[in-house]
Amino acid sequence: MSKFYVTTPIYYVNDKPHIGHAYTTILADVLTRYHKAIGDDTFFLTGLDEHGQKVFQAAQKRNVTPLQHCNEMAPRFIELWKKLGIEYSDFIRTTEDRHIKVVQEALQKTFDRGDIYADEYEGWYSVAEERFITETEKDSGQFRDVTRLKEKNWFFKMSKYQQKLINHINDNPGFIQPEHRRNEVLGFLKQPLGDLCISRPKSRMSWGIELPFDKDYVTYVWYDALINYVSAVGCFTDEEKFKKWWPVSVHLIGKDILTTHSVYWSTMLFSLELPLPETIFAHGWWLIGQTKMSKSLGNVVNPLDLVEQYGVDCVRYYLMKEMILGQDANFTPEGFIKCYNSDLANDFGNLLNRVSGLINRLFDGKIPPAEKKDPADDIVEQSAKKLPANVEKLITELKVQEAIAATMDLVRLVNGYIESQAPWKVAKTDLPRAGTILYTATEALRLAAFLLSAVMPSKCNLVLDILGAGDSGRRWGELKRGIKLKTHEALFPRLEVDKK
Ligand code: ME8
Ligand code: MG
Repeated sequence: MSKFYVTTPIYYVNDKPHIGHAYTTILADVLTRYHKAIGDDTFFLTGLDEHGQKVFQAAQKRNVTPLQHCNEMAPRFIELWKKLGIEYSDFIRTTEDRHIKVVQEALQKTFDRGDIYADEYEGWYSVAEERFITETEKDSGQFRDVTRLKEKNWFFKMSKYQQKLINHINDNPGFIQPEHRRNEVLGFLKQPLGDLCISRPKSRMSWGIELPFDKDYVTYVWYDALINYVSAVGCFTDEEKFKKWWPVSVHLIGKDILTTHSVYWSTMLFSLELPLPETIFAHGWWLIGQTKMSKSLGNVVNPLDLVEQYGVDCVRYYLMKEMILGQDANFTPEGFIKCYNSDLANDFGNLLNRVSGLINRLFDGKIPPAEKKDPADDIVEQSAKKLPANVEKLITELKVQEAIAATMDLVRLVNGYIESQAPWKVAKTDLPRAGTILYTATEALRLAAFLLSAVMPSKCNLVLDILGAGDSGRRWGELKRGIKLKTHEALFPRLEVDKK
């Protein structure tokens, strides 16, 4: 048994979550469920990033205190995760004591070893990005709310660890994935790395964690936020727990926060003398047309609307199937409905309908034995037998989309097999042969449902339940003969396309 610790970013509570946030969280849930199903010990962490200027301003706008704002927003996330079938192990909020203490201890440790110093700094500051930007960045016009600031601040000696980080990336090809993101970070590290401003004067913005060595300052929201990945698993407080889970197996993030994770976080960990994450995986963006779906642009799709209209499993399926991990993907209502109708209604749902319809008609609803084999059955059986190992390999390589595709290939193969074997005809002259065909098809369906249950937990468990195979595993032949199928409705009723 191995361990699998996965995280999502902790999301800002400045607004409601959208499909983008849902995506990363569902992905973490799918990976966790797969790992659980193969017997790994899993820990899945998500949560909320509650400090900093964005949240502070969001609260001001609503005329409530920042904490009140956070307390009102947090349930929206928790509620959504529940509706999306997310089973996290822990949900961390950065305003919690257990987190604040660890951040302060990390700051103190870093300070004590001489990696934090004070300096007067003057430069351009992007309020939207919450960081100082360079002259070139300012001129690019890509930053909003830019102002000139001059103040004393505290700096973390990030530059000190530049070469160590480059070496680490070179020595660990799997550290930053996918490869083009790794190259992007290595490219970024060709320039001399500046030190990181890790403080904000309270006089300007007081919503944050106080620096243990200077009461007039709070720490920068990113220094605070990144620590969540270790504070939640017992860093400085529960040695045994921490040793069990850290280093994390994979930090799932969007490409928007690649630098903060690969550069800020890694150098922070170097200074704390803690191991680096095994993998940081940056996925692409969900786009609407050509632009990123984002809170600030307002072009968002609300996952709750989709779930209410179509059910949770097809939302999960669509998001997992449609995005090739590492690339951008387009969200379109047409694409969603097409995916639903072809994969879920026509292929997967239809396979259940066909086998259960035929078993009801020909075998009084009881799963027949496979006693009269034919070479045609071997193609199905061999493909099905190879599938679990293949899916496991793809999942460990974070190729969820390919794991789904491989499983759906089996589903389509079996639909074709039923078509060409025509058990309804065979039954007229050779009932045992018809039974063998139906057993083979049903067993392949069971296996597909088992392998897809991380993606579509409720529908797949329903299929397994209908087949009386709720506690079955990944081996071919676990489907029991003689079991009476439970009655059911269409798994995924076809959607009529709205002419509007
Ligand atoms: O950045 N497509 O929080 P955030 C795909 N608090 N994924 C998307 C997306 C889109 N259009 N929009 C958002 C923060 N995401 C910080 C993180 S971590 C220590 C601190 C997902 O609320 C994606 O995972 O802006 C992205 O990285 C994250 O939401 C950003 O969420
Ligand atoms: Mg963001």
